[in-house]
Amino acid sequence: MAIMQARAWLSRRLSTVSSNPLRVCVVGSGPAGFYTAEKMLKAHQEAEVDIVDRMPTPFGLVRFGVAPDHPETKNVINQFWRVAQNERCSFFGNVALGSGISLSELRDLYHVVVLAYGAETDRNLGIPGEDLKGIYSARQFVRWYNGHPDERYLDPDLKSTGTAVILGQGNVALDVARILLRPTEELMTTDIASHALAALEESSIRKVYLVGRRGPAQAACTAKELREILGICDLDVNIKENDILLTPADEEELKSSRIKRRVYELLSKAATSKPVNAGLNQRELHFVFFRKPDSFLESEDRTGYLSGVRLEKTVLKGLDSGKQIAVGSGEYEDIKCGLAFKSIGYKSIPVDGLPFDHQRGVVPNSRGRVLSDASGDPAQLEEGLYVCGWLKRGPSGIIATNMYCAEETVLSISEDLNKGVLASSSTSPKPGREGLQQILSDRNVRIVSFSDWEKIDAEEERRGSEKDKPREKLTTWEELLKTALE
Ligand SMILES: Cc1cc2nc3c(=O)[nH]c(=O)nc-3n(C[C@H](O)[C@H](O)[C@H](O)COP(=O)(O)OP(=O)(O)OC[C@H]3O[C@@H](n4cnc5c(N)ncnc54)[C@H](O)[C@@H]3O)c2cc1C
Ligand SMILES: NC(=O)c1ccc[n+]([C@@H]2O[C@H](COP(=O)([O-])OP(=O)(O)OC[C@H]3O[C@@H](n4cnc5c(N)ncnc54)[C@H](OP(=O)(O)O)[C@@H]3O)[C@@H](O)[C@H]2O)c1
Repeated sequence: MAIMQARAWLSRRLSTVSSNPLRVCVVGSGPAGFYTAEKMLKAHQEAEVDIVDRMPTPFGLVRFGVAPDHPETKNVINQFWRVAQNERCSFFGNVALGSGISLSELRDLYHVVVLAYGAETDRNLGIPGEDLKGIYSARQFVRWYNGHPDERYLDPDLKSTGTAVILGQGNVALDVARILLRPTEELMTTDIASHALAALEESSIRKVYLVGRRGPAQAACTAKELREILGICDLDVNIKENDILLTPADEEELKSSRIKRRVYELLSKAATSKPVNAGLNQRELHFVFFRKPDSFLESEDRTGYLSGVRLEKTVLKGLDSGKQIAVGSGEYEDIKCGLAFKSIGYKSIPVDGLPFDHQRGVVPNSRGRVLSDASGDPAQLEEGLYVCGWLKRGPSGIIATNMYCAEETVLSISEDLNKGVLASSSTSPKPGREGLQQILSDRNVRIVSFSDWEKIDAEEERRGSEKDKPREKLTTWEELLKTALE
């Protein structure tokens, strides 16, 4: 009897699922988007989740950010793959929020919209000379070596200069430095884009400066990544011993962070180690501390081109917020270089109709619930609209951070559903997936489904196998769309 009742209950429930699902749209298929989809599908058996991404390829920065020489980090894709194959989940690639579909349309189509579209632009330094040729953001350069079709033709000139300056000392700055300095034989068997590998093979860069506005006790990178770059073969690492000295305020700061202590220890050890024996292909890495960018210098021989970076020496002040800040001292020095990379952080951009905190570059939210204005009044909620990942927290945190972030956002959604704050699937059915397909078809938007992406994936793996690489990425929009859709 109990079994029959359970069967009847299950059959009623399944019929509700198919006829009246909770329609959920997640915008962005990076870690934040996939973790949100996974948790929504698990927590709400009646939910149908559509993941929309402007790219024809899923996985966000796991594909276009994580460095090619970190293949193990990309294994998380297997978990996301399983989510995409859930029968209640669909992928809509090549669909951009803002141009393909608007936010208000999505909100009409779905009960719940979760924005997880990351950070698609850069923080700016706002200093003179920023437009000179030879200056790139780390984001552009990273996309270029990772085969992002938007930067396929960036073509950074690695042959006309021996020196590159990287502004910033976070993990992205370390990635950029490592790719510039690592012997290319070690990159050959990674999934690095072939155009980037070819340019790096011909690179004349032998000296890289990593510039931080604060000291070694405040460096933004983490120990594993630092150890990796310090371990590059035949690399001469330079750190001024004076820069390693700690003030009482530094010591105070280090007490509260084990990560920073480990980074500091590695840097101070490197500062006092003997230089490596100069080999034929010797490369140098210089850590420059207590210098903030003042201006980019224009070449006298080549108008419009970079010839150096002017840095202002800094001193650190204040510990009230638990963190010292760098203040210019009025003393300057120049580093000559033909290439500079700004690696001072990514930045999110708003779409029409979305409340946005321009100061912090995030969507104002309370535990993932989007708030109507940036003042942060928790009473002013945007019904049915949520946010996750870098768009919610700002451009920091590793892949796993987005898992906890998604957990929080999905918990807020569940609470709102339980409280009846959200339009429910039974009382207010929404068109969801079918409605989205209709609008996109009317606009001639060519949707790349997950199985279309699998065609790209198979082709990339096939091309990779010919070169002993895990994959050879398709790097133009034409090739990607042709492979997926024709
Ligand atoms: C260079 C770099 C290297 C990194 N390396 C590591 C690492 O080795 N290990 C680690 O743990 N973490 C690493 N991280 C951090 C990690 O990548 C991030 O924490 C994570 O990717 C952020 O997830 P997200 O989903 O918020 O954003 P993203 O991963 O950026 O995903 C956002 C998605 O939204 C899509 N999108 C953007 N705009 C639109 C739009 N208008 N319409 C539709 N879709 C849109 C994008 O195409 C993208 O797929 C790295 C970060 C960077 C920048
Ligand atoms: N292997 C990995 O795990 C990996 C790899 C790449 C990225 N990530 C993660 O991705 C996130 C983003 O990394 P990120 O390197 O872009 O950002 P980040 O860690 O925030 O580092 C930004 C760097 O830019 C500096 N900076 C910011 N504004 C500046 C300005 N106006 N002038 C001069 N310097 C300025 C910062 O200095 P201050 O400290 O003084 O502000 C810091 O050194 C991080 O959480 C990172 O850990 C992880």
